[in-house]
Amino acid sequence: MYCVKKITDDLTWVGANDRRLAMFEGVYSVPDGVSYNSYLLNDEKTVLFDTVDKAVRERFLENVAFALGGRTLDYIVVQHVEPDHSAALRDLTLAYPDIKIICSDKTLAMLEQFFDFDVRSRAQIVKEGDTFNTGAHELNFIMAPMVHWPEVMVTYDSKSKILFSADAFGSFGALNGALFADEVDYERDYMDEARRYYANIVGKYGTQTEALLDKASGVEINMICPLHGFVWRRDLNNIIAKYRLWSSYVPEEYGVMIVYASVYGNTENAAEILACKLRDKGIRTSMFDVSVTPASNIVSQAFRWSHIVFASTTYNAGIFVSMEALINDLTAHNFQNRTVAIIENGSWAPTSGNLIREKMESCKNINILDSDISLRSSLKAQQLNNIERMVDSIMGSLPNSAKPAAQPAPDNAANAIDPGTMFKLTYGLFVLTAKDGEKDNGCIINTVTQITSNPLRISFAAIQANYTHDMIMKTGEFNVSILSESAPFSTFQRFGFQSGRDVDKFAGYALNARTNNGIRYIPENVNAVISGKVIDSYDYGSHTIFVADVTQAITLSAEKSVTYQYYFDNIKPKPQPQKEEKKGYICKICGYVYEGEPLPDDYICPICKHGAADFEKL
Ligand code: FEO
Repeated sequence: MYCVKKITDDLTWVGANDRRLAMFEGVYSVPDGVSYNSYLLNDEKTVLFDTVDKAVRERFLENVAFALGGRTLDYIVVQHVEPDHSAALRDLTLAYPDIKIICSDKTLAMLEQFFDFDVRSRAQIVKEGDTFNTGAHELNFIMAPMVHWPEVMVTYDSKSKILFSADAFGSFGALNGALFADEVDYERDYMDEARRYYANIVGKYGTQTEALLDKASGVEINMICPLHGFVWRRDLNNIIAKYRLWSSYVPEEYGVMIVYASVYGNTENAAEILACKLRDKGIRTSMFDVSVTPASNIVSQAFRWSHIVFASTTYNAGIFVSMEALINDLTAHNFQNRTVAIIENGSWAPTSGNLIREKMESCKNINILDSDISLRSSLKAQQLNNIERMVDSIMGSLPNSAKPAAQPAPDNAANAIDPGTMFKLTYGLFVLTAKDGEKDNGCIINTVTQITSNPLRISFAAIQANYTHDMIMKTGEFNVSILSESAPFSTFQRFGFQSGRDVDKFAGYALNARTNNGIRYIPENVNAVISGKVIDSYDYGSHTIFVADVTQAITLSAEKSVTYQYYFDNIKPKPQPQKEEKKGYICKICGYVYEGEPLPDDYICPICKHGAADFEKL
């Protein structure tokens, strides 16, 4: 029985999921399955974009037949020859004998390598920049060599502004009934798998991926349809921004990933002590035992973190086998642009450290810290200073913005008002949080000001349409978390681009930090938090100005507060250049576009609820 999903009136997903596959490409475990996406365009001409893996061929053929609704299939666009996307090509030629194959000349040559039927006589060769009119749609072909194979091409439909992106923007993980990324908690449930997919499948080819991103940035894209994983129709910048980082090998986060290989637990012990000492300094850490965690997960995490510590025992006079395999895997994926530290162990002739160093020296732009630690069987008390030295060395290699000042212990912070907190108030960006019963919520605000110092009072403005505003009107209590320059765009998306009336804004937010009033605050990428009790409020139409007594104020880090200007210059992804001139207004806060002229004075952004004053002309 067919199982399809409608994307638009004339575009249908006809792919299928596979949850039985143990190892994707024979290498990568896929515990949550994988989807093979194929898309059918039912225009004047019927056009299919790629096929699927042989494992799901039968369902796919049923899907295509159903989605065609009795019509024949005129064309298939082969964007990528890899058999997980082309395995059903022969079946299509049997089911639809007049089908034409739109592909590049490289693709044709590869198809002839994989298949024995006459591909050539059906081929309609396209090259970079060629277009193909299907009726109401115009397909533009863009070559994307080495994203993942040399023949890869993507297709841009300039009428519907849909990018069929081949392997780019894909993910491991079956679709589980949803098709669009905005139907799931992508950040929480799928971003790790998207990163693992990118890092392992395409990660070696950062330059080529950047070239594709550059080409794609020249056109307006409303939707991205990849060959694996979810279709993107909203917040495309979420995934595009990640691809910009991954493809340029820029770490997503400052922090230390410690990977260790330990036969009897002694190297692991040193790694654990290092992790504890780093955490004591407020540095984020993650740890993996290379003998347990699949290499693909660690390679993926290496694309995330800025610092990697390799801790390996010596084995057969070399690097421990699973550590050596991991490092080879990393170097094969173009590991670069990271800071590295090394711990070796060996009971009679430790050699793993120098060998790891040699491998790292062969990688591009790796800063190898000069704080190597060499253990003889186990870490001894007199070597703890070596661990301290490594911690200092790591701290010294981090930018100031990534060094959180030690947070006050909760007991010391209880009821405390740190007056220095007030100096962190700027015309910046804040997360305003409130609690009503069991419901936690928060939103982004931009005006918090100290009014008096004795008693300590602040004022802030909140949009009346915001749910957090209503909660504060009801409860009279709130927290203001002062965002710092390290705040990622995802924080603004989480608290600013959706409504707490529709979603749980804290869903998937692991850190459940609360001040004395029981209200959550944001403990990461924030330099201070202020709790308050409302004593007055003033209705200014779209906004309410609240005046409140400060009941608690805690400094969390020495990092600079983010200003509005800094947010626009460094955090908010840049809008893609528009090729065609479009009339309307764009919301400066969330990027929502109002199409029309003029913008009504009382217009409220349907996404972030900001008013007309926060829109600018396109
Ligand atoms: Fe899923 Fe490179 O193919």
